[in-house]
Amino acid sequence: MKTTTRTLDLRNMPPFERHVKIFEMWDSLKEEETLRIINDHEPRPLYYQFEAEHNGQFEWNYEEEGPKDWIFLIKKISSSGDKRKKIKELIRKLHSKENIKKHKDEAKKFLKNISPTDLGIMEQEIIKEGVTRKEMRKLCDVHLDIMKENLEKKDLKLKPGHPIHTLMAEHDEILAFIEKLKIINNKVQLSESFEELGKEMIMLNFIAKHLVEADKHHQREEDVLFLAMERKGITEPPQIMREEHVDLKKKKKELYKLSENYKKMDFAKFVKKMKSVSEFIIETLPDHIYKENYILYPMAVEVIRNDEEWEKIKNDCDRIGYCCFTPKS
Ligand SMILES: [Fe+2]
Ligand SMILES: [Fe+2]
Repeated sequence: MKTTTRTLDLRNMPPFERHVKIFEMWDSLKEEETLRIINDHEPRPLYYQFEAEHNGQFEWNYEEEGPKDWIFLIKKISSSGDKRKKIKELIRKLHSKENIKKHKDEAKKFLKNISPTDLGIMEQEIIKEGVTRKEMRKLCDVHLDIMKENLEKKDLKLKPGHPIHTLMAEHDEILAFIEKLKIINNKVQLSESFEELGKEMIMLNFIAKHLVEADKHHQREEDVLFLAMERKGITEPPQIMREEHVDLKKKKKELYKLSENYKKMDFAKFVKKMKSVSEFIIETLPDHIYKENYILYPMAVEVIRNDEEWEKIKNDCDRIGYCCFTPKS
């Protein structure tokens, strides 16, 4: 398909008219059309202005880069096809070893203009086009960083008793257990024998038991909420969460076993195992919760709009049951 290119020669135009003319022509461009500009100096300030005002909506390429003339092409993109192309390019860049900070910043700027639902749908399409889920996770991590920068919890305006309200309240409890686990692990790492760790070992067993108890939370997500989302065509984000559940469940069980059987272990071996298992949980579980609170749950609320559907989800959740730490609603 041939795309339209409109040329604007700025060389004989008074400087004060240039920017106005550029943005006039840019506004009149349709998607896929390109503005080709000929200029007599490097267009760096213009590039920054585009980045600030039209981030994620244009593609910038040079035809000639001085020293006399600069000819550059600004293509208007906004269709999901072009955004997908841009996301693929970002994933490739994020996997390169150099300039990783610069690539992360570029990805952050781009992702800020995309809603979680659009991103989720695009991710699905990109995976169908051959990018692996593992590669996609790098982009998810950058997305997560953006979410973390905006720490205020997105108010989904849900009433107590709503299945997502309950899941989020459980997340708060799980995060509190993680905080306690951090303290205990630090103490273990600084200790020299089990004798120094009386009450910490009781606490460790208590925390591990409760983290395993959270399997019911995962089950409600997997067997009820994710299925409902998948029926609405949102398949990849739940699949990524399912895979994370598998790793998390394994480590939580290991932590529980460790807290039950430590007496039979050599202290040094125990400390080492405690470090690897707790650090995995401390790093992975809060990230998982963030992704659900800020991306997956808002997507669910966006795609499941019918009260009757939520009523059915609630009944199915009730059948699975709740955790001993689920706050009463
Ligand atoms: Fe989950
Ligand atoms: Fe969760």
